[in-house]
Amino acid sequence: MARTKTSFRCTACGRQELKWLGQCQGCGEWNTLVEVAPAAASARPGARPGARPAARPVRALEVQTLREARFTTGLGELDRVLGGGLVPGSSVLLGGDPGIGKSTLMLQVCAGMARPEAPVLYATGEESLEQVRARAVRLGLPLDGLQLLAETDVEALAGALQAGSFRAVVFDSVQTLRCPDIPSAPGSVGQVRESAARLAEVARARGQPIFLIGQVTKEGTLAGPRMLEHMVDTVLYFEADPGRSLRVVRAHKNRFGPVSEIGVFEMTGQGLVVVDNPSRAFLQDRPARACGSAVLAMLRGTRPLLVEVQALVSSSVYAQPRRTAWGCDPNRVALLAAVLERRAGLQLAGCDLFLNVAGGLELDEPAADLAICAAILSSQADRPIHPRLAVFGEVGLAGEVRAVPAAEARAQEALRLGYARVLLPAGCLEQLHAPRGLEPTGIASLDRLAELALEDR
Ligand code: TYD
Ligand code: MG
Repeated sequence: MARTKTSFRCTACGRQELKWLGQCQGCGEWNTLVEVAPAAASARPGARPGARPAARPVRALEVQTLREARFTTGLGELDRVLGGGLVPGSSVLLGGDPGIGKSTLMLQVCAGMARPEAPVLYATGEESLEQVRARAVRLGLPLDGLQLLAETDVEALAGALQAGSFRAVVFDSVQTLRCPDIPSAPGSVGQVRESAARLAEVARARGQPIFLIGQVTKEGTLAGPRMLEHMVDTVLYFEADPGRSLRVVRAHKNRFGPVSEIGVFEMTGQGLVVVDNPSRAFLQDRPARACGSAVLAMLRGTRPLLVEVQALVSSSVYAQPRRTAWGCDPNRVALLAAVLERRAGLQLAGCDLFLNVAGGLELDEPAADLAICAAILSSQADRPIHPRLAVFGEVGLAGEVRAVPAAEARAQEALRLGYARVLLPAGCLEQLHAPRGLEPTGIASLDRLAELALEDR
């Protein structure tokens, strides 16, 4: 049979070309053409009509219910991020910087899930079998039930999936996979895309969960293709606070659960260890009585967490002062700075403003506003915040402090960590069944923030 040539498809409009072009002739977008394997090309939009029998829809009522029997990965923190465990047949992409601990995490997960009667397969293209085994031994992981395979050819890997019966399969990493139909080098957009699609398809058909490990590029995207994210059921990112041993796994996309949960680990000499008390870990290096440091009671998924928000206000040498933020949206910080100037009388003109969320967490809820304002105010006034005070609340453009969800859970977490004084939106006070020992203070407007949050001189 004559071998069909590879072709190129536009990821924006689906148009197919026989050779690569910088600009799509269909929609005019640049750099959207990716290489596709011949088989995949003919099955996609643009294929000749009538080449295959017409598809037959089925009544939704007749579709078999999905087996929802999730099973545990052996690591509670990872189960939490996955939405309560691993779903059979699901494909999970784990992305992260090189050296952050993706292979370590997956090896620990494999060993935790493997049983002699239900083995787990760890397929590696990055390390030799000896290196993987040596790491497992060094970490003290049980080896029975763990099967290793050093292979990068996708067809051979798909064959291994079909021939064996594994509890789960890990591919380390997608950048090393090679689809024989595609001439370009492993790691190229076309290769990564076709390899991931092929393996996810086999996994789904066999009800076999798979993990694909992917390196994050310097630009911060999962190597090359953001489009990989559409092919898998769940995308997890593994992140670290630079220079510290804490690691956070968070869901970026999850077809089987929420995307707001996080799992916290610490990288130790014995591999990754679950952090039982993340709030304490995030606050452990907080300097005592420092100006510009506020404790925020935030919510991540269903979990309340205490984190430190730091601000530094300093006189600027630039005509246009700088507003820089790490761990939160710089536009939100600029907006809150403007609200503080107008509604709380703060003088920020001519000042640079830097904001940082300690611990490498990303603040993505409006409830962080009040803590950001308190940190800026404290730095500008050069007065520390009350030592045992935790803060949360949304701030509006008129300087009003608005109610936020889960006030009770946030306050409980603050009290548990010894932050007995909690400054929260006045509107949340009535929903709060204050536990014993808690000293809640309601705040309705930013103009009272200095009086309620800062220590007297
Ligand atoms: P690794 O899992 O190989 O990272 P990735 O697969 O994301 O590239 O982890 C590599 C780093 O983790 C390496 O710098 C050493 C460190 N590490 C430990 O600190 N303790 C351990 O027990 C292990 C296995 C690794
Ligand atoms: Mg690795």
